[in-house]
Amino acid sequence: MPITRRDFFVKTIQGLAVVAAPVALGAFLESCKSNITGPTGASLQTVQGTLSNGIVTVNIDSASPLYNIGGVATVKYSSGSLLVDHPSANVYNALSAICTHQGCSVDNYDSSTSNFVCTCHNSRFAVDGGVVTGPASAPLPKYKTEFTNGQLKITL
Ligand code: FES
Repeated sequence: MPITRRDFFVKTIQGLAVVAAPVALGAFLESCKSNITGPTGASLQTVQGTLSNGIVTVNIDSASPLYNIGGVATVKYSSGSLLVDHPSANVYNALSAICTHQGCSVDNYDSSTSNFVCTCHNSRFAVDGGVVTGPASAPLPKYKTEFTNGQLKITL
């Protein structure tokens, strides 16, 4: 049975739909991924640190956002920044502030969940650096800390 012009036209349109639909769906999902919305917490306060011989030193006095237990802040130093929290007496955690997804600065903190938040695509990280929600899939690197006499030393 010969194919009519109409049959040819219908089959061509069906074929294009089969090819185009997944492409359009993929583009739609990708656009949604970069527009995820949700609570991002608040911008972290910044504390200045000094880098010397691979160690960032931060003076923590009663005016510092890191003084009280539960305090969190971004520690900036000459060539980068770190996320620091103070979970208990004389204990501090320090994490890289560079998001493992696409390299944005992680600079927000959601106190309701104790998550650091990267506002570029809304990845969330626990205070130990672990991924809570992506798109990031790798944890934030963690650094060794030592606190004595009001000074926090973070070894990079
Ligand atoms: S760079 Fe994409 S979530 Fe941080």
